[in-house]
Amino acid sequence: MRIILLGAPGAGKGTQAQFLMNKYGIPQISTGDMLRSAIKEGTELGLAAKQVMDAGQLVSDDIIIGLVKERITKDDCSKGFLLDGFPRTIPQADAMQDNGVVVDHVIEFDVPDDIIVERMSGRRVHPASGRVYHLKYNPPKVAGKDDETGEDLVIRADDVEATVRKRLAIYHEQTELLVGYYRKAAEAGATQYHYVDGTQPVDDISAQLVKLLD
Ligand code: AP5
Ligand code: ZN
Repeated sequence: MRIILLGAPGAGKGTQAQFLMNKYGIPQISTGDMLRSAIKEGTELGLAAKQVMDAGQLVSDDIIIGLVKERITKDDCSKGFLLDGFPRTIPQADAMQDNGVVVDHVIEFDVPDDIIVERMSGRRVHPASGRVYHLKYNPPKVAGKDDETGEDLVIRADDVEATVRKRLAIYHEQTELLVGYYRKAAEAGATQYHYVDGTQPVDDISAQLVKLLD
């Protein structure tokens, strides 16, 4: 099962990707997580990506397309994958299509900007696993620690309000076009498109996704 999770920064893509990964045994491919680990490792890619990400801008299509193309050929993707944060531009979506990658489901998470700004201010992440928490809406069992490993949770560098607003603006300019793109693809029978009201509680959304996908 190949799934695209589409939605603004903070819409809940990573949260539901973790749920779906555990439920269906297919890997989460988060381009944001891949870039953050490149930054941590200090690779050439990481050095190039850091400034762009901290400014809330998009990393170039060529780099991102190359990353994803390579990732989806790995063995663990043979039964499918969850694309989280990719594609984000029309050229990225076209690249998938040009490579013959058939996507079974596109799931759109819709959340108003002001709710997103509030969510981001309380987000805490476990970088090694991609697990995501929120101080109020999805708190860890022990404050500041990851549930599974007990390791420290961190605040993402791009979660300051000014950067969040910038990321939202870019979402509305560039990524939201993919809503129309994939709705049209679904009308042509190329994929299935699902709209989800992303303001519902985390568990309600997870339950809705299982109904859509089963
Ligand atoms: P990326 O890491 O993909 O960030 P993003 O798309 O901005 O999305 P987020 O990870 O911020 O949000 P999310 O939807 O995963 O929400 P989450 O589940 O964490 O990208 C970062 C940067 O990398 C980009 O800005 C860009 O520079 C670069 N990049 C990445 N991919 C790229 C690409 N394809 N092309 C070019 N550049 C790229 O939830 C957010 C918070 O809300 C958490 O605290 C969570 O606990 C809470 N929450 C989740 N669901 C709910 C709910 N239902 N109710 C209440 N709270 C909830
Ligand atoms: Zn995410």
